[in-house]
This record gives sequence, structure tokens and C-alpha cells, in this order.
Amino acid sequence: MFENFASVWTPVERSALLNKQPISVELAGEKVALFRDKSGSVRALIDRCPHRGVALSLGTVTPDGCLECAFHGWQFQGDGACSHVPLNPEARRDLLSATALPARELGGLIWIYTAPGATAPVEPVAPDGLVRDDVARAVLVEDWNAHWTRAMENMLDSPHLPFVHRRTIGRALRAQLKPNSKMHVDWEETPFGGRTTGWLDDTPNQAVLEFYRPNMMALHIPIPGKHFRIHAICVPLGGNRTRMIIVGSRDFLKLPLFDVFFRKANFKIIREDRAVVESSSPSEVPPTAAERSVETDRATLQFRRYYHQTLLGGDRRK
Ligand code: FES
Ligand SMILES: [Fe+2]
Repeated sequence: MFENFASVWTPVERSALLNKQPISVELAGEKVALFRDKSGSVRALIDRCPHRGVALSLGTVTPDGCLECAFHGWQFQGDGACSHVPLNPEARRDLLSATALPARELGGLIWIYTAPGATAPVEPVAPDGLVRDDVARAVLVEDWNAHWTRAMENMLDSPHLPFVHRRTIGRALRAQLKPNSKMHVDWEETPFGGRTTGWLDDTPNQAVLEFYRPNMMALHIPIPGKHFRIHAICVPLGGNRTRMIIVGSRDFLKLPLFDVFFRKANFKIIREDRAVVESSSPSEVPPTAAERSVETDRATLQFRRYYHQTLLGGDRRK
């Protein structure tokens, strides 16, 4: 279950899309049914009825907050316990549970922990741009035909800015480029992942990029006295498909009508990334020795190490 993406928290969908009807989301090769219980809390069950394998997300939520399967009406609580089996009053319901996953709502997003159980050993860690009350957020979602690891590396990669984004966020950097320019890339370990800063020649660049394990980037765009960030979350769907959730946060121009503008600007930027990410071969990032690397690959190599040692290698301490 959740092969190569087990025992981590990840956002999967926007909270606003989950109302009275259950929905289905895909995550690392599994389908997950999301619904709201009686208190309005998000609950997550593997989207497969233990009876005959029907998608639980086709069902309905009962007045007492259980998910009722569309096929024979079995009902399941948010922790997976089977609470009703129509026409079979003597059924051993304790043997008929669905598989629950821990779920949370944070920053307008629904998060899932990728291991079965009603509780998780740790809580999700979100960048403050996702959770602060005093900022406005503009969200956009796009599915890419790419392995999530290539998308994640792209989001942590500063040296591509003057090339891929020569007409947008990399324009100023491109104008500074000289034939013998040198980019410096720093990497600092943090409790949530890491922080990287990059600068060109002698010009300090205060833009900071943070990596939140396992699949999130937060870019701090320097505007004196302002909060202006772009977050990119690379959600593995399955195979070589990735859902990109892009959240821009700002503490200026906060009226919702400006969301359209910020969404459009971010859409233009990630569309520039999409073509190069989808073209990468092999789709999944290979072991480091299989590709040639240079000094400015510092941040992406850190991610690659985390991916191979922790997510693929199963070492949760790293
Ligand atoms: S398949 Fe779900 S109740 Fe029968
Ligand atoms: Fe980019």
C-alpha cells in the first residue's frame, strides 16, 4: 500500500471540494474515499468496500456520519469500523471493517497520512504561508504526466530559472548572466526538510526556497516588509502521474478578486516547468550516479538522497 510513499503526510485535495457527498482521490496508486463525519471532520477510507470491492466513494453519508456503501448498504465509521450490515443482524461486524487512514484539514487542504490506522504517529507540518490567518491564498491544481520526483526536483532547482523562466520569474536573473557567471547554492538542514538560497556572482539574492518532506516546496519571494510565497505540492497519483497543487500566499492585495491575477501568474510559471518535467527520462529520478551533476545541483541532490534513502530505503530517521 502506498508503495514508495508510505508513512508520510501529504495534501491531496482542496477542502472546499468536500461537502456532503463523498469524493475519491488517488494517491500513490491507491484510491481513497473522503467524507465528512457528523462533526464535519474529514475522514478517509481506502476506496474499496471490504464486502465486494465497490468504491465506497459511490456511497452516501448517513445522518450519523457513517459512509454507506452504494452496493448493499453496509455502513462504516470514520475509523473504518463497520456499524451496520443490512439484512444480516447477526453478522460479526468486528470482522468487516474498512481500512481507515488518518486525515486532517490544514491551510484549506485535505491531508492524508499514507499508512492505515485511525491515528498517525506524527502530525503534518505545513509552511506558515499555508496556515496563517492573515494572508490571502490563491490555489491552482493541474495534473502532469510525470513522476512526482522529477516535479519535486524541478521545484527545488534554482539554476533553471534564467532558462525555463526567461520570460517570467527568471527574467531578471537572465539579464545578469555573463558567460562566466557563477551561481552559489547553499543548503541548510531543518527539522522539516531543508532550506536553500542561491545567488549569482556577487549579487545576493534573498529568495529562499524551502523543502518540506516529502513533497512540498515553499518559495519566499523577497518584497521588503511583505509576505509573498509560492508553495508547490507534488502529489503522486500513480505511475507517472502527478497532481501539482500550487498555493500562492500574500499579505497584500488580499481581496478575493486579486486571486484570479495571482492564479494566472502562477499558472504561466508552472506551465513553463511542465514541458521540461514531462520530457525527463527516466521518468523517476534515478540513483545519483546515473546522471551527471554539478555544484548548483546541491538542493536537488539533497532531495534525491532523501528519496532514495528514506522513501525507497525505508529509513525514517533521515
Ligand atoms: S460491496 Fe459494499 S456493501 Fe456490498
Ligand atoms: Fe520552474
